[in-house]
Amino acid sequence: MSLLLLPFILVIIFSLTSVPAESSLSTTYYSKTCPRAQQIVLDIITSKQITSPTTAAGTLRLFFHDCMVEGCDASVLISSNIFNKAERDADINLSLPGDAFDVIVRAKTAIELECPGTVSCSDILALATRDLVSMVGGPFYQVWLGRKDGYVSKASRVELNVPKPTMGMSEIITLFTSKGFTIQETVALSGAHTIGFSHCKEFATRIFNFSKYSSVDPTLNPRFAQGLKNACANFQSKPTMSVFNDLMTPNKFDNMYYQNLPRGLGLLATDRAMIEDSRTRPFAMMYANNQTTFFEDFARAMEKLSFLGVKQGRWGEVRHRCDAFNNIKT
Ligand code: HEM
Ligand SMILES: *[C@@H]1O[C@H](CO)[C@@H](O)[C@H](O)[C@H]1NC(C)=O
Ligand SMILES: *[C@@H]1O[C@H](CO)[C@@H](O)[C@H](O)[C@H]1NC(C)=O
Ligand SMILES: *[C@@H]1O[C@H](CO)[C@@H](O)[C@H](O)[C@H]1NC(C)=O
Repeated sequence: MSLLLLPFILVIIFSLTSVPAESSLSTTYYSKTCPRAQQIVLDIITSKQITSPTTAAGTLRLFFHDCMVEGCDASVLISSNIFNKAERDADINLSLPGDAFDVIVRAKTAIELECPGTVSCSDILALATRDLVSMVGGPFYQVWLGRKDGYVSKASRVELNVPKPTMGMSEIITLFTSKGFTIQETVALSGAHTIGFSHCKEFATRIFNFSKYSSVDPTLNPRFAQGLKNACANFQSKPTMSVFNDLMTPNKFDNMYYQNLPRGLGLLATDRAMIEDSRTRPFAMMYANNQTTFFEDFARAMEKLSFLGVKQGRWGEVRHRCDAFNNIKT
């Protein structure tokens, strides 16, 4: 009898422990404890984006990196101290932009004044990202709330979890698959490069001394390649030099990223590979041909991204300030 029941009990225990985190997040998490939280985030990001138009892209990248390393738990916002080199100071320099950190700090400060100790930094980053993406023309999607902020932020955890433009498509696919994304979702998320900048060093090998046969990557549009060479001429002495990811509509969230790819206007080697590799090409072409499909898939993939490694209960805390743990950890 008890032996017969055992499998059922195990099944019940298993299904209880494997409840996905998103099932306990909710779109109305703060409706009683901080009803104006979403409005405050929206107000802050709106004025910040108007005064600093690079905020949207910077915040989207910050959120992506946060979720890829330790999950969406605001680990990327922690500042280093003498005991701990934090994520944001990883050696493979993320060059995460100051405007993105700034907009989260501002939103947190405003929310703390209204409802102290209630709204997590990870939820604020998730909301700010969604609002900024839609403000610059991208799709709106639901953001589930109730994340706690994490206890771990280590620079050493960045290298293996964040994609680099020097990776081959197989490596990119392996990395995104390890986070639960399909190839189609990986291509959809990469459409984020429809906004924002890249520093010259991220694509310099494509335009200087490319090979012994060609000084530039022959898959680049020749006029585009020349423009990049001019813009990046002194990049080694001026490392802040950067170029729009989407030359055609740099500040608008649209499907131009995909339309650029077959024209040789993809900036990073990994962007180019999206149209070159037979595993990703069909999706890149589909999104180039239909912005509606891209927006639907991007929105769903962003929702999925926002559930990665979510912490709840005692696995996290609501930080008082986004750049420091409540109890300084070593
Ligand atoms: C497919 C693999 C990816 C690679 C190799 C990659 C790599 C890069 C690199 C090297 C930059 C330039 C950073 C700089 O020079 O400051 C960049 C910028 C950016 N990335 Fe990605 N990325 C990838 C996927 C993604 C995804 C999935 C997202 C978001 C969902 C994203 C969002 C962004 C944004 C918005 C920018 C512009 C940042 C700004 O203007 O401040 N990237 N990416
Ligand atoms: C990383 O970039 C920041 C500015 O974006 C710079 O201050 C810092 O020195 C860089 N760190 C390394 C290790 O290159
Ligand atoms: C390219 O090669 C030339 C000559 O070999 C060298 O002077 C130059 O510094 C190289 N440029 C880069 C960006 O590596
Ligand atoms: C684009 O995709 C949407 C939905 O995925 C579909 O309803 C629409 O007809 C497509 N548009 C074109 C021009 O193919």
